[in-house]
Amino acid sequence: MTSPGNDKSSPDLSVSLAGIPLKNPIIAASGTFGYGVEFEDVVHLDKLGGFVVKGLSREPMIGNPPPRLWETAAGMLNAIGLQNIGAAAFLEEKLPKLRQIKNVVVFANVFGYTREDYERTIEILNDGDGIAAYELNVSCPNTAHGGLQFGSDPRSLDEVVTTAKRVARRPLIVKLSPNVTSIAQMAHISQEAGADALSLVNTFVAMAIDADTRKPRIANITAGLSGPAIKPIALRMVYDAAHAVSIPVIGMGGISTAADVAEFMLAGATAVQIGTASYWDPCATEKIVNDLQSWCADRDIAHLADLIGGLIVE
Ligand SMILES: Cc1cc2nc3c(=O)[nH]c(=O)nc-3n(C[C@H](O)[C@H](O)[C@H](O)COP(=O)(O)O)c2cc1C
Repeated sequence: MTSPGNDKSSPDLSVSLAGIPLKNPIIAASGTFGYGVEFEDVVHLDKLGGFVVKGLSREPMIGNPPPRLWETAAGMLNAIGLQNIGAAAFLEEKLPKLRQIKNVVVFANVFGYTREDYERTIEILNDGDGIAAYELNVSCPNTAHGGLQFGSDPRSLDEVVTTAKRVARRPLIVKLSPNVTSIAQMAHISQEAGADALSLVNTFVAMAIDADTRKPRIANITAGLSGPAIKPIALRMVYDAAHAVSIPVIGMGGISTAADVAEFMLAGATAVQIGTASYWDPCATEKIVNDLQSWCADRDIAHLADLIGGLIVE
């Protein structure tokens, strides 16, 4: 009998992320997988490396008015406005249900509009059992600094990561905004401020217009672009970030196939997240795990982790 990884026909997909063992590198991305429980009937949650819950804030939020979603060529625009039930209700209503499912790795995504918001939200979540790590969404306007995104301003980024690290009783993943001039600089700042890992990319600020009505397609006017349309840019940013830091990087942006996963890992990602693909096929995450198994077996790859940072540049 062979165990996974001893035999090239049953490749070992496991990776280790900031001390967290994952059975495979496939993580469902925040905002595209609800609180996980909604997907219980369509995806075997325990087959995934893990999943990130919807962004959680200090207080519940109702989000933006509709229309909030628009499909573009090879992508999707969203301006959901970070609608969520709030950190306390997540602990009370959702986490107990998730804890009943064995072997699931839950990441809690956290956001706010001031440093104190982030601090308080993490303090609330510190009391919950069964959260593997925090993912800090820094693509939010900093109301104390004229609304510039935390993640687009080096000083705000440093301050918010330092604050979060001081209170977090779990590993801290900083989710970088791609709406910056130098992703390497933002990656480095996050690492120096105490991040245990990085994840990138969040969505690109974008828009769509209906030329007939002369109106924006999204009520908020601007929105975040995701999906295959952003994949080559996301891949370049993951490559740049991974080369700027020594902490692990989680790559994402338009991943929809096992080969996409391999590309991000070769660029330097230890794990990946799948977002928009779950909108087109709710089973996408689990399918990609299965496809990854055969992708490796077909290429005689015994340990998927060997791909990390393995890009060959001649
Ligand atoms: C509808 C929607 C909601 C999202 N909500 C969040 C969120 O609450 N917090 C967050 O950090 N990222 C959020 N994101 C960004 C995704 O997690 C991911 O970073 C981005 O979509 C790129 O990956 P993809 O191309 O695979 O979708 C959201 C994306 C979409 C499409």
